Amino acid sequence: MNITFLLNGESVTLRDVDPTQSTLNWLRDTRGLTGTKEGCNEGDCGACTVMLRDADGARAVNACILFLGQLDGKSVTTVEALADGDTLHPVQEALIDEHGSQCGFCTPGIAVSLATAHLNGDRAHDDVLAGNLCRCTGYAPIVRAAEKAAEAPVPEGFAAAPALPDTDDTPMRPKTADALAQALMEHPHATLVAGATDVGLWSTKALRDIRPAIFLNGVEDLKQVELTDTHIYIGAGVSIETLRHLMLDHHPHFAEMLRRFASTQVRNVATIGGNIANGSPIGDGPPPLIALDAVLHLRRGDVRRQVALEDFFVDYGKQDRQPGEFVEAISIPRGPDNLRVYKLSKRFDQDISAVLGAFNIAVQDGKVATARIAFGGMAGTPKRATHVEDALIGQTWNLPTIDAAAQEFAKDYTPMTDMRASADYRLRACQNMLIRCFHEGSGAKTSVLEVTS
Ligand SMILES: Cc1cc2nc3c(=O)[nH]c(=O)nc-3n(C[C@H](O)[C@H](O)[C@H](O)COP(=O)(O)OP(=O)(O)OC[C@H]3O[C@@H](n4cnc5c(N)ncnc54)[C@H](O)[C@@H]3O)c2cc1C
Ligand code: FES
Ligand code: FES
Repeated sequence: MNITFLLNGESVTLRDVDPTQSTLNWLRDTRGLTGTKEGCNEGDCGACTVMLRDADGARAVNACILFLGQLDGKSVTTVEALADGDTLHPVQEALIDEHGSQCGFCTPGIAVSLATAHLNGDRAHDDVLAGNLCRCTGYAPIVRAAEKAAEAPVPEGFAAAPALPDTDDTPMRPKTADALAQALMEHPHATLVAGATDVGLWSTKALRDIRPAIFLNGVEDLKQVELTDTHIYIGAGVSIETLRHLMLDHHPHFAEMLRRFASTQVRNVATIGGNIANGSPIGDGPPPLIALDAVLHLRRGDVRRQVALEDFFVDYGKQDRQPGEFVEAISIPRGPDNLRVYKLSKRFDQDISAVLGAFNIAVQDGKVATARIAFGGMAGTPKRATHVEDALIGQTWNLPTIDAAAQEFAKDYTPMTDMRASADYRLRACQNMLIRCFHEGSGAKTSVLEVTS
């Protein structure tokens, strides 16, 4: 495969290169750009952060789980290109002035994350830095540096959008959903690579050869969002960060949970289609979407079908998807926002959920009119709590109802004990989430009560 992109402003064309090579290895080993560091090689630490620019803007991304095949038509800026000759970038100046670096291993990644936020005018520095782990400096000086740099103008070299190279529409890097459908019919067992935040680890950690791979990030059709009077259609290639912004207007509690989905670098490339198709029982997207009665739009060649999202997850590691079929979109009905989502993980930021509960409960005249409740981390698949729903519907919305309904979780779920949580803890967490949902839905101050069990 030929891949053409801008590297620090210079046009690069790689001919007949392995598109599943990691950008980090290529930068360091082939180009000698060793400012981009390798820490974890699994998307966690941010030491490998580079700036990716395309028609959608500038984003910080982790180079360790970014395949070369994902760079086609884009612009990559590494830490080496932040300074303009002897003139440091404002974030570099500020990191020095505020003593924001000690051993310096994390510093290139932090500088690139902050330079990207600086360019975008993003001042949510805690969120920006959640994916950059620093073991020695401590975050106070780094955040002070970010705040100081935010007052400086964007350097000239960054202000204008780069002139992106034209690229070809090839079967393994299609630009339209039609071309993707055809490529997948010809290579039904190819690995689909969207953001590569799951697939990247198959390669860097499990050392799997994922070839042949079809790269989806050039398929504009999959990145579309459409609002109709009745539904929101979300293309499978919509990033988690774009979904977060979309949900701010429709289901803000969902958006707030997505702020804790991985890190900025991961959310910038991870897609909702990948999150669903991956089929993990602890993926954060499916439970809220199931609670919202989402429908999955699947396509194989020219044949399209729709399946309720909850039915897509057949069993642990098994989804209702045929060879050659791909996820084209997800749709959710529009309506009043009753959704509450609670993510429980050992660490607040950048951590996989132990339990994730999504509650879509409508109360009318003091009684529960409708209830859709779904959980991750409680079974081998994301799963609805139908016994709890049945115990709520038609009942008075009060604590005795909640207390009785909470007992039903044990009928819905037989959770496992693993390194994230014990089975007991998981069950109790579900019950407490329901109580919290009741208090918050009733406008009362949240206090977690003991449920009799
Ligand atoms: C550091 C780190 C933290 C993470 N934290 C979280 C977290 O907090 N919550 C969470 O839920 N996940 C988390 N993840 C997992 C991952 O980010 C998500 O599952 C993400 O949404 C995957 O999307 P992707 O586009 O990167 O998928 P990819 O890795 O590209 O693909 C994932 C799977 O989906 C398939 N696929 C992709 N697109 C399609 C399509 N359109 N049709 C059919 N199949 C498709 C691929 O073939 C593959 O099997 C984390 C990952 C990392 C590395
Ligand atoms: S090396 Fe840790 S995120 Fe890439
Ligand atoms: S300065 Fe040492 S890890 Fe951050």
